Amino acid sequence: MQATGPVVAHDLVKVYGGKVRAVDGVSFTVAPGEMFGFLGPNGAGKTTTVQMLTGNLKPTEGSAVVAGIDVRADPHEVKRRIGLVFQESTADPDLTGRENLDLAAALFGVPLRTTRSTIDGLLEKMQIGDAADRLVKTYSGGMRRRLELAVGIIHSPSVLFLDEPTLGLDPQGRAGFWKYVLELRKDRGMTVFVTTHYLDEADTICDRISIIDHGKIVATGTPSELKDRLGGDVVTVRLSSAPGPQVETVLGGLPGVLGVTKFEDSYRVKTPRGEELIPVLVESCDKAGIRLAGISLKRPSLDEVFLEFTGREFREDEGMTATDRAVRIGQVQQAFGRARR
Ligand SMILES: Nc1ncnc2c1ncn2[C@@H]1O[C@H](COP(=O)(O)OP(=O)(O)O)[C@@H](O)[C@H]1O
Ligand SMILES: [Mg+2]
Repeated sequence: MQATGPVVAHDLVKVYGGKVRAVDGVSFTVAPGEMFGFLGPNGAGKTTTVQMLTGNLKPTEGSAVVAGIDVRADPHEVKRRIGLVFQESTADPDLTGRENLDLAAALFGVPLRTTRSTIDGLLEKMQIGDAADRLVKTYSGGMRRRLELAVGIIHSPSVLFLDEPTLGLDPQGRAGFWKYVLELRKDRGMTVFVTTHYLDEADTICDRISIIDHGKIVATGTPSELKDRLGGDVVTVRLSSAPGPQVETVLGGLPGVLGVTKFEDSYRVKTPRGEELIPVLVESCDKAGIRLAGISLKRPSLDEVFLEFTGREFREDEGMTATDRAVRIGQVQQAFGRARR
């Protein structure tokens, strides 16, 4: 297979237990130095994809070349060349931050003479220098994640994989974490592959994203390309009278309307300038005897993009996952621990 980027996936498939098609023919190419987002709801297949790309899980079908290495042919070499921050916390809570880094340095074969300076540099960079000799179980969620980021790059990988790295962090912790990742990328020219189910995060941070749903990529592009594909604003109209076939005709015939789709008991009307359409829409519905219960205007967002490409709301039926719960339990336990000390 011809590799033309630091991460190239070709028709990757993972079937668990002979029946769950968790990843179902995924292909993409990440360019050098790019921050590439893999965006999808819980269970979409993000972690499974990351595990195949990082040599931790054998693909059922398809191939991938990561940092110049075929993941099937040499998964161990892939692991040596890349950095990985797992979805779950991996730092040892009963060691200090520095000890965690020492351990990682030894595992990755960082030369002894540079270990000390590398670790000091990373601790300072991640602003955990003051806490370096404290046990990790006393760290906040944000500090722990920054330590795990430092662990992930201790061997100066050219490609960094982050699997939902900000899951469970508060908005401040999330913003902080991304600041460090963006700096690292700038300093080192690293390629970053990140999965997230936070749409706003993907929108502001990623150069390019793929949206994955039920194991399949449904759209790929820069955040603005994807939003442009929506063709402008979306005006959502809710009716108080029963929806009838004339509703779509009336809405579709309004000036500047690009399309009308029915979604549950509302209609989504696409138009370049929503605020200009609303007064005309209200008047026309009134004349046609269509009773309105509500109108809302949305600027294009990745939420809308997701709905457009999958026909589902991103947040629909999304409860807390096992990981969310584990993170939450960890936070509560930490809070108890603090209260007792
Ligand atoms: N080890 C496993 N055995 C069986 N099914 C799995 C396993 N890991 C994940 N799955 C299933 O594969 C699908 C994708 O999971 P995952 O890759 O973890 O999604 P995401 O990271 O996007 O939340 C889900 O339906 C999940 O239940
Ligand atoms: Mg996951």
